[in-house]
Amino acid sequence: EVEEKLKRITGKLIREHSLEEEEYRYLIDHREDARDPLAREARRVTEQIYGDEIFVRGLIEFTNICRNDCLYCGIRNSNENVERYRLTEKQILDCCAEGYELGYRTFVLQGGEDGYFSDEVLVPLIRKIRREYPECAITLSIGERERASYQALFDAGADRYLLRHETADEGHYRKLHPEGMSFRHRMNCLRELREIGYAVGAGFMVGSPFQTSRELAEDLKFIETFRPEMCGIGPFIPHRDTPFRNEPAGTLELTCFLLSVIRLAWPSVLLPATTALGTIDPRGREKGVLSGANVVMPNLSPTEVRRNYELYNDKICMGDESAQCRSCLDMRMRTVGRRVVTNRGDLRRTPREE
Ligand code: SAM
Ligand code: FES
Repeated sequence: EVEEKLKRITGKLIREHSLEEEEYRYLIDHREDARDPLAREARRVTEQIYGDEIFVRGLIEFTNICRNDCLYCGIRNSNENVERYRLTEKQILDCCAEGYELGYRTFVLQGGEDGYFSDEVLVPLIRKIRREYPECAITLSIGERERASYQALFDAGADRYLLRHETADEGHYRKLHPEGMSFRHRMNCLRELREIGYAVGAGFMVGSPFQTSRELAEDLKFIETFRPEMCGIGPFIPHRDTPFRNEPAGTLELTCFLLSVIRLAWPSVLLPATTALGTIDPRGREKGVLSGANVVMPNLSPTEVRRNYELYNDKICMGDESAQCRSCLDMRMRTVGRRVVTNRGDLRRTPREE
């Protein structure tokens, strides 16, 4: 009976790229026998759209100063054990130059919500990057801002924005964030970013505290219907200086399964095999690719500051030079039959999705 129902649900996901929330939940709860067939199908769909290409984004972690206090995050405001830093404009531009040399055509500027980086500071910086590298994508990942600010940064030349929704369940969101942070505000930011014209990235952690298959089913339905251009998912990993220090990490198995389901629910989505996935398993990113991921985001931050952008315990690549990260990923992707390419790595819509 379980077998019959599972067959019906997986068949529907593969054919229609859509399930009811209850069906997603059932699939997660009974995934044992669905895992391998769905991974195979996710791989097939990925190859149909993106061939053997893996897109790379150079990640520049330009500030670890943050006004927020997300309960899971290692650089949260109340963690006094972090040595805080902020890269200068010159350091950021140097990272871009080095990245360009290494073949990156997308730069991701990520950081905490650092009040120093007002529009007055960011607009000229983005303009410079835009002027210097007209063919590159400029991605921002700097949290929640006013609509006018998103607009100003877009007008300056930023074209993508990563803002994980973290969880699609309002009650769950409240358990992961301190009083004062708002689920609705975050979701509204995603809508504004899209209206302005950014390619947007949503996403969530797998195995975050209090998460059950119910919340995950909501996340999947949200991704299926909102259709963000990118979806970042990786395991939650505890950080020793946060309130969640004793919570268990999310698993490789569930993360890979969800990568496959997301690929099938929204076939064209740009889906990274994240650093967090590479942290919980030495071949996590390769396994992510074999489950349907098609993007990797090697680190371009200066080595001196890397150890201070520790979102969770034991984060990988802390001491590596940017060039090492790049060639390491190149090699890893070759072991799973993929090839890292040098271009912006834009979303490709299938005829059916136009
Ligand atoms: N401040 C920006 C924001 O909030 O969107 C960008 C930086 S924030 C550190 C980037 C992402 O790191 C978050 O969206 C969250 O999902 C992830 N993250 C934070 N702490 C984590 C942890 N302990 N384990 C796994 N991922 C984590
Ligand atoms: Fe701000 Fe994590 S709490 S980046």
